[in-house]
Amino acid sequence: MRLGVNIDHVATVRQARGIDVPDPVAAAAIAELAGADGITVHLREDRRHIQDRDVRILRQTIKTKMNLELANVPEVVEIALRLAPEDICIVPERREEVTTEGGLDVVGNREALAATTRRLMEQGIRVSMFIAPQPEQIAAAAETGAEFIELHTGRYAEARDEAERINRLTEIRMAVAAARELGLRINAGHGLNYRNVKPVAGIEGIEELNIGHAIIARAIMVGLADAVSEMKGLMMEGMSDG
Ligand code: PXP
Repeated sequence: MRLGVNIDHVATVRQARGIDVPDPVAAAAIAELAGADGITVHLREDRRHIQDRDVRILRQTIKTKMNLELANVPEVVEIALRLAPEDICIVPERREEVTTEGGLDVVGNREALAATTRRLMEQGIRVSMFIAPQPEQIAAAAETGAEFIELHTGRYAEARDEAERINRLTEIRMAVAAARELGLRINAGHGLNYRNVKPVAGIEGIEELNIGHAIIARAIMVGLADAVSEMKGLMMEGMSDG
């Protein structure tokens, strides 16, 4: 299972001062040296963290692969088409949210998402839909022609007790099985941290986890290289438990 390290929050700290450090470009290189299998960034419409300059330079410097998260809005989609990263994950976006809160409503936006997916795939980009682990969203994602889904693990991460945690994990397992039946490939992410990652890493069929906040938060304490390699180590342990 691959680890995609989301480095948005390196840019969040930089934007807090409006100067040029810390630089997500340097962070991406360190994360890769420490074992990241990919670098994920979200170019938000409001540009609250990652900037156009970042995605341009990262496209040239990332040695693993770039996973660009974006909303299905023309301005950002045009940038993505020019950039042609290896992967694009289409996410919902609301200006007032602190982070991506829920999954995409693919059922309600099927045609628009299918049209964007087609354009991106024509550029050789792998496309993923960030969705909740719900059967109707999985079926709709398959109909858009996207190769991948990324299952939203937020509700699992926020479970208040063990019983709920187990239910949410079962929901993810069932979503993985349903998606595989439809020929989709599966990634997962959101809210994963050093305490809850192992059971998700143990689910066969998930190819990649995208993790941001927990890694960058830990990086402040122990450094980015250790934060990345510890997470990768836990994923490996989870995979052998699973
Ligand atoms: N995957 C997607 C699609 C996301 O939007 C985010 C948050 O930007 C993540 C994964 C990572 O979530 P977290 O920062 O909680 O690890």
